[in-house]
Amino acid sequence: MHPPTYILAIESSCDDTAAAVLKDRKVRSNCIANQEVHRIYGGVVPELASRAHQSKIVPVVDKALNDANIDKNQLSAIAYTRGPGLLGSLLVGSSFAKSLAWSLGIPLLEINHMQAHLLVHFIEDERLKTPDFPFLGITLSGGHTQIVKVDRHFEMEVIGTTLDDAIGEAFDKCGKRIGLDYPAGPALDRWAQKGNPNTFDFPIPKVDGFDVSYSGVKTAFINFIQKMERTQPHFIEENKADICASLQRVLVSIILEKISAAVASTQINRIAIGGGVAANSEIRKRLEEKHTSQAWQIHLPPLEYTTDNAAMIGIAGYYKMQQESFGQLSDVAQARLPF
Ligand code: KG4
Ligand code: ZN
Repeated sequence: MHPPTYILAIESSCDDTAAAVLKDRKVRSNCIANQEVHRIYGGVVPELASRAHQSKIVPVVDKALNDANIDKNQLSAIAYTRGPGLLGSLLVGSSFAKSLAWSLGIPLLEINHMQAHLLVHFIEDERLKTPDFPFLGITLSGGHTQIVKVDRHFEMEVIGTTLDDAIGEAFDKCGKRIGLDYPAGPALDRWAQKGNPNTFDFPIPKVDGFDVSYSGVKTAFINFIQKMERTQPHFIEENKADICASLQRVLVSIILEKISAAVASTQINRIAIGGGVAANSEIRKRLEEKHTSQAWQIHLPPLEYTTDNAAMIGIAGYYKMQQESFGQLSDVAQARLPF
């Protein structure tokens, strides 16, 4: 029996300051400080995000160590998000992780945020079933929409991506147009559950291969609302649930069509989703239906592992540690970090 590894993980790629402690593949603590400052602006303000990370990172790390009942001197390594994300935000987490690893004399593990969204499925947790390789990983977030062929933990190939907006961005921007607070995805999902998804229709764009496009449907939606409001000033208030349900059906159909095409082409029917929009009730329901109708194996993470969190950085760090693939103090955070 090897001694357990204790990894402290730090995530600061966007507007959540998060820290977690893992004992091998088990999550001992998973702490997040959400930044409320962005709500009034209807989106993340990068400069304010970096400042908020600066003030929150020490208390969040402290809480993660306390909740896990671990002293920092017991840590085996520190994992942090190197990218992709907002550079000013990434710099806070990466500088903190490097300083702490250096002062404790322990290894540093640099993690790709998008790979981590998929590696949550390897956390040891009774609510999760680890997928067999190869599987199709679907990352659905505010910044990305990808279909990824996953052959091993760090052997991932993006076979489809968005040509413009990410799915989460479409939820957020359309939601903003009908008066929902940022980030609008969760509220839009709640409204949608009370509405009829077949009330209104929006065009599904024709895109080659496994790529998707969300900017067309976003523009069509915004124009539609504007047109309806001209003759019915209270159109949004009177039809909110049906508007949300109809839009959500189309946004989910766009990615589902491409997942179906990828399954048919690769003959891989194991699907694992990750990222904030993986919390969406419609995508979860429609994937479950594919399990029933076409025997797809569906892997849905528990909600706390869908939106940005540090546990996912910790599990990715665990596998990097196993491979002795250590980071360097000279590694630089990167806003764009390919797989
Ligand atoms: O992965 P994430 O926390 O941050 C990024 O890396 O972008 O994803 C955030 C996105 C936001 O666009 C938010 O509106 C969306 O996830 N989101 C949802 C739901 N919960 C979060 N979108 C649709 N339905 C939800 N239930
Ligand atoms: Zn994310």
